[in-house]
Amino acid sequence: MDEISKSAMIEHYSTLLDRHGPTMAALEYRSEEQQIKRYSVLAGIGPMGVLSSVLDVGCGLGHLCDFLRRYGWNGAYTGIDINPTMVASARERLPKDEFMCVDMSCESLDRQFDYVFCGATVQHRPRSGDPIKYMEEMVTRMFAMTKIGLAFDVFSNRVEFTDDQKLYVDPSYLVNFCLSLTRRYVLRNDYRPYEIVVYLYKNVAKNDLNIFTEWIGSEPRIIK
Ligand SMILES: C[S@@+](CC[C@H](N)C(=O)[O-])C[C@H]1O[C@@H](n2cnc3c(N)ncnc32)[C@H](O)[C@@H]1O
Repeated sequence: MDEISKSAMIEHYSTLLDRHGPTMAALEYRSEEQQIKRYSVLAGIGPMGVLSSVLDVGCGLGHLCDFLRRYGWNGAYTGIDINPTMVASARERLPKDEFMCVDMSCESLDRQFDYVFCGATVQHRPRSGDPIKYMEEMVTRMFAMTKIGLAFDVFSNRVEFTDDQKLYVDPSYLVNFCLSLTRRYVLRNDYRPYEIVVYLYKNVAKNDLNIFTEWIGSEPRIIK
């Protein structure tokens, strides 16, 4: 991200943080239910090991960490965010966890994590430059840092309205982009009409039935 876009992105969330304090409103959530629903759809990437490591990109205040812990996850959490004030507030909330100030569009960590999550972050369009290139750089970088899988969300361009600050992606383009990174992926558009949740998996090993070895099927759910 160029310097002008970076300053604008930082200013946007710093203004919200000043106005609302370290709360979900500073992250543009309208309710706790909305926030929880987003975290749960991201966590739908797969059954997570209790001690699996997590990188949360655009972590905001680190609320995803609280959410996962409530469900019994007890692994190492690292949150990164472009906004130094956000990082400082997150550290204050969760002093035992790791937070770093990093711009994921042009910096990487020299480490890998079992899971990488990136919620409500790639949806914010940088002020200048090619937004699709920005998204591709972010996603490619994040995918390189996961050992098991990456879950992120984007806005679909199949909308009836647009907002200049948001980044919209054509779903059919997204399929091809995902395929350029891995053959094992999920695109979910069953959660919100204008939002696509993407899971990208690292392990593409297949068994003798030509089924991905890590795929976990589910039994039919019959409603009585
Ligand atoms: C809407 S908030 C979402 C916070 C968090 N993921 C959540 O859902 O609770 C988006 C966050 O992404 C951060 N962000 C935006 N672009 C980023 C980038 N290129 N690298 C790292 N963080 C970024 C912002 O500073 C902001 O804190």
